[in-house]
Amino acid sequence: MNKSRQSLIAGNWKMNMSVAEGCALAQQIVSQAATVSCELLLCPPAPLLGFVMAETNGSEVQLGSQDCHFNDAGAHTGDTSAKLLADIGCGYVILGHSERRADHGETDQQVAAKVTAAWRNQLTAIICIGETESQRDAGKTLSVVRAQIAGSIPPGATGANTVIAYEPVWAIGSGKVPSVNDVTKIHAETRTAFAEAAGAGEAELVRILYGGSLKPENASEFLALEDVDGGLIGGASLKAQDFIGIASSCP
Ligand code: 13P
Repeated sequence: MNKSRQSLIAGNWKMNMSVAEGCALAQQIVSQAATVSCELLLCPPAPLLGFVMAETNGSEVQLGSQDCHFNDAGAHTGDTSAKLLADIGCGYVILGHSERRADHGETDQQVAAKVTAAWRNQLTAIICIGETESQRDAGKTLSVVRAQIAGSIPPGATGANTVIAYEPVWAIGSGKVPSVNDVTKIHAETRTAFAEAAGAGEAELVRILYGGSLKPENASEFLALEDVDGGLIGGASLKAQDFIGIASSCP
């Protein structure tokens, strides 16, 4: 088993948390970070980034955004550039989350442009892929995942500038999870597809996260798999005990 890749446990807070709640949560996570061996990443809503940064400063806990624009500056009301995210101290940005693909109609092409902006500003892009329930029922999971990798990852991907998050849309927030066999197969296929895009050497280094209803109770079986290098956590990232509980399950 190749567990030479350091596991990454990333909390996607989505559109949750007040200033007080977010700071308290970050404080609790920072205070327990030394008890786990994996890398920890918090991705709060954009207005909370500065507040959370004040709590994570000087700790090992990393900060990331949930989106960025593909330009570095300009007339883009309401958007945030990767350049500014890097400037305030973010190391990561989540891109192509299924909620953004659904709510904002983001296409693979747009996701790829945002990934390029992230790399241009030295941010690691966490690129989200995953099939809907109807695509899964139609037996199209692997072809959907392959097409998203081909379309959302521009040339120049490396194991250092990219993390892939496999998040089956039907498993997000539903309490449903895929079988361990399915995750094993899909993550292996994801690594193969990444190798075709970026080369075998980079594919050995790239971290592939699982996301979708990950909880302290079910995390161990997924995080132990050879091609699962951590998790992208939604609901369970909003409680320090659950988030650290999942992080403690990393082998
Ligand atoms: P849940 O953990 O709430 O299912 O959300 C997963 C997710 O979408 C993380 O990006």
